[in-house]
Order: sequence, then C-alpha cells, then structure tokens
Amino acid sequence: MTTPSSLTQDELKTLVGQAALQYVVPGDIVGVGTGSTVNKFIDALASIKSTIKGAVSSSVASTERLQALGIPVFDANEVQSLSVYIDGADEIDGNGNMIKGGGAALTREKIVAALAQRFVCIADESKRVEVLGKFPLPVEVIPMATQHIARRFEAMGGVAKVRLKDGKPLVTDNGQHILDVTGLSIQNPLEFESQVNQWPGVVTVGVFAHQKAAVCLLGTAHGVQTLI
Ligand code: 5RP
Repeated sequence: MTTPSSLTQDELKTLVGQAALQYVVPGDIVGVGTGSTVNKFIDALASIKSTIKGAVSSSVASTERLQALGIPVFDANEVQSLSVYIDGADEIDGNGNMIKGGGAALTREKIVAALAQRFVCIADESKRVEVLGKFPLPVEVIPMATQHIARRFEAMGGVAKVRLKDGKPLVTDNGQHILDVTGLSIQNPLEFESQVNQWPGVVTVGVFAHQKAAVCLLGTAHGVQTLI
C-alpha cells in the first residue's frame, strides 16, 4: 500500500489500527490492549462488531471505550484462551521484544497477552528500535517497595522515578505505583525480564520478551509494513 509521506503520527496510528482487523478471527473474543494506537483499533473494531463475540480488555480506559461502542467486554477469567491480542508498544525491536506501560496498563496487558495465541503489535515507526531502553522503562511496583526497587535499578546504572499524576504518585488500575527507569540499555530482554520480575515488590516489569509480539504492523511513510 502506498501512502503520502506527509502522514501525521495520528494518521499512521489509524492506518495500523485498521490493518489489525485482518488478524481478528470471526466469532472469537479478541484481546484488546491500551493506548492511543489501540483506540484507533477499537474504533475500527466497532465497524465489524457483529462478527465477533466480544473482547477481553487490558484497562479500565479500553473497557469504557469498547462498551461505549457496543462491544461486549468479558472478564479474563471467563476465557481459557484468545486467538489474538492486539496492542501498541512504546518500543519494539526486530525480534518482537517490546517496552510497554507508557499508559500504565502493563500488568493487565501482560495478563491478556499471556492468554493469547498470537500478539499483534500495532505501532508507528517511531517505536522501532535496535536495542530496548531509550524509552523510560515502566515498572509497576507495590508502593512500600518503591525505594528498594529504585536502588536496585541504580545499581544497574538506571535512574528510577515515581510516575506522578497531578503532583501525586499515579495509581494504576490495580492500586499500585509506577517507576519509570531511564539510563538502561537492555541487551538481553528475556533475561532482564526474568531477573527484574523476581525482585520483591515488582508487580510487572514493562519488558515484554516472554510475551513478545508474533507480528508487528508498523505504520510508515510508505504505508503499513509487517515487521515480523
Ligand atoms: C499502555 C501501553 C501502550 O501500548 C503504549 O504506551 C503505546 O501507547 P500509544 O499507542 O499511545 O503510543 O503499553 O500501557
């Protein structure tokens, strides 16, 4: 598909949101992520809502958007498996490893991704990187462990800051806080995810290597490219 090179980032998100419809299996429940790119997908999904059973959502925000458009939302506990999970990313490398959590929904995103047979990542080309770590890594933490976990990242060369909203620590859909960690260069995403996940107080680290993308639809000046 050829497109003019003057597309805005928002238009690129719309393109990949629409392109993701081809991965939706008729009659199935679809796993739905969170974020501005996923919002484009949800809007596109509404146009074929009569062909699907519904969705499992990864955040309160996506649930509200799905329901407002008349798409039934199922609890994750009601499904055993999903054919596909569609979500955005803050960074994605050439192997489908991602950083996610810019929208603070990483824990539920990882849970829904784990239910799915295939993770389809939708992103504009600004998200494509060689090595993960330039985007501040989101980590959902139990509040009483925040400073202990921050010191562990400091020992790795990172700087961890509590994410704020209206001057107070942001509270996730799960009632926890987010640390954003800068200064990391994540050379081995699989090992890094396993390591950080076992630190006491870490709920979820925003590296998605165990639940990496099987497909990445990247919105570029030349149209939608299938990266992997
Ligand atoms: C939310 C996420 C999002 O997928 C990620 O932040 C990308 O968002 P956007 O599509 O708005 O750029 O991980 O927790």
